[in-house]
Amino acid sequence: MIIKKNITKKDLPYLVKIIDKISNTYPKVFLLYGTLGAGKTAFVKCYLKYLGVKEKVTSPTFLINKTYQSLKNKIFHYDLYRINSFVDLQEIGFEENLKNKNIVFIEWPNKIKNLDKIIQKNINKSHIVKIFFNHTLQEEKRDIKIQY
Ligand SMILES: Nc1ncnc2c1ncn2[C@@H]1O[C@H](COP(=O)(O)OP(=O)(O)OP(=O)(O)O)[C@@H](O)[C@H]1O
Ligand SMILES: [Mg+2]
Repeated sequence: MIIKKNITKKDLPYLVKIIDKISNTYPKVFLLYGTLGAGKTAFVKCYLKYLGVKEKVTSPTFLINKTYQSLKNKIFHYDLYRINSFVDLQEIGFEENLKNKNIVFIEWPNKIKNLDKIIQKNINKSHIVKIFFNHTLQEEKRDIKIQY
């Protein structure tokens, strides 16, 4: 477990690099926890930039899922805020994406009960990184906890 305090947007590239290095197995899944505006999408945007994705990254909230391609990886970005059940996720092929060199980012994973257990049926626990984003008293700073 790593705890980083008072992270600004400027610190994100450095943080992404650390997180990418410690999660060196594929496929990998990032479960991104935190309230509205805590910085989950900002983190994904920064990570995609690090991976060399040139496309514009937008929040998938209204679409549930967006897919990107980097040199080495297929990347899936889910936002489960508006999802109602695991069946909805299954329908868009969620479990089938937990393979190869895929990287999967999931915002609002707690919207689906036992999502981590479902993921662990497909891949080993060691491939899952949980990241908790928290607001601080300062508008531009976040406390971030990384569990792997
Ligand atoms: N240190 C920081 N890290 C991340 N975002 C920051 C930081 N400081 C300020 N921000 C701003 O806070 C907002 C974070 O929004 P973001 O869309 O990443 O949140 P989110 O956790 O994805 O929220 P949602 O649950 O609505 O999807 C952005 O406007 C961003 O510019
Ligand atoms: Mg978001």
